[in-house]
Amino acid sequence: MRRLPPQTPLAYLIGDILSKTNLIKEIEKVEERMRIQADERHPDLRVALDTLLASGGKRVRPRLVLLMGNMLSADTERLITLAAAIEMLHTATLVHDDLIDGSLMRRGNDTINANWTPAATVLTGDFIFARAAKLAAQTGSLTVMEEFAETLAIMVNGELTQMFDARGLANRENYYQRIYAKTGSLFELSTHGAAIISPADPETVEEARKFGRELGTAFQIVDDILDFTGNQAAVGKPVGSDLLQGLITLPALYYIEANPKNERVKSLLQGNYHNSAEIALLVEDIRQSDAIQFALDEAKKYANRALESLKGQAPSEERFALESLTEYVTNRNV
Ligand code: IPE
Ligand code: IPE
Ligand code: MG
Ligand code: MG
Repeated sequence: MRRLPPQTPLAYLIGDILSKTNLIKEIEKVEERMRIQADERHPDLRVALDTLLASGGKRVRPRLVLLMGNMLSADTERLITLAAAIEMLHTATLVHDDLIDGSLMRRGNDTINANWTPAATVLTGDFIFARAAKLAAQTGSLTVMEEFAETLAIMVNGELTQMFDARGLANRENYYQRIYAKTGSLFELSTHGAAIISPADPETVEEARKFGRELGTAFQIVDDILDFTGNQAAVGKPVGSDLLQGLITLPALYYIEANPKNERVKSLLQGNYHNSAEIALLVEDIRQSDAIQFALDEAKKYANRALESLKGQAPSEERFALESLTEYVTNRNV
């Protein structure tokens, strides 16, 4: 298996910003909490989990939990538990998602389904879900537990909707629902959950929730842009694959709206997304068009809305880091 260094540019960026706080130490504790989850289990399961965790990932969601929670004076141990729960939930959804999508590469490594049967892959994902739920319970908050279960339900429902209804569908409302389900909801859980276990007042909890939801939307729009413009080796997962799967994301939506008479667009809207040579040409057209910038401008609008919901907070290192993370989300190339 090929390995990317576990330190991503984000880790450096945020590490740099917060070198004076405890974020780096706390992230290490989150890593440790996740690593011990497969102890004393089947050796293959342990190897699979170790490999998944060692191959990195940007760890955006646990950073959000820690930064939001520290800003709002939550208990550090509970935050570490919540951050581990959320990153485990994220990891489990990726294990299942890669099987569903037939993806062979994630975080620069082979996916579980690249080497194991679908049955073994499903069970590995289930195990990680179970551990994530246990960690969520260990936060000691029934509300967090409820929100955790609700978020998973939203994500699974989103995957099913995408599978059954979204192929070849060029519809903005449907797009925003899908990206809320796949990403906005879990970012929302990260910042909302952190606020729930803090001594914050209800308005602050609501603003924290909004921050995560808006930031998650911006993050997913950029993810969808990177599917057109990204470098596969850097991104660590296949690019150019959304359209090939019939998934029409924001850059494609803008391109379709601007070029309704284009032959390749017409063919796509008739459901012909299996012709990989034609789709590759369409991907290239979209990549060269204004649609990329329009989509980025839209992501920046969501990022700005996220920033708005931090306005009520006194200046602090954590607030500054959340603002920097928001900036990173729309400027990233991995
Ligand atoms: C990937 O999420 C899946 C999406 C919801 C877009 P990330 O881009 O946060 O993946 P990792 O954790 O850094 O690998
Ligand atoms: C992300 O979905 C995974 C979930 C949150 C379920 P995608 O299939 O769109 O993301 P990538 O491109 O594999 O990371
Ligand atoms: Mg998918
Ligand atoms: Mg996928």
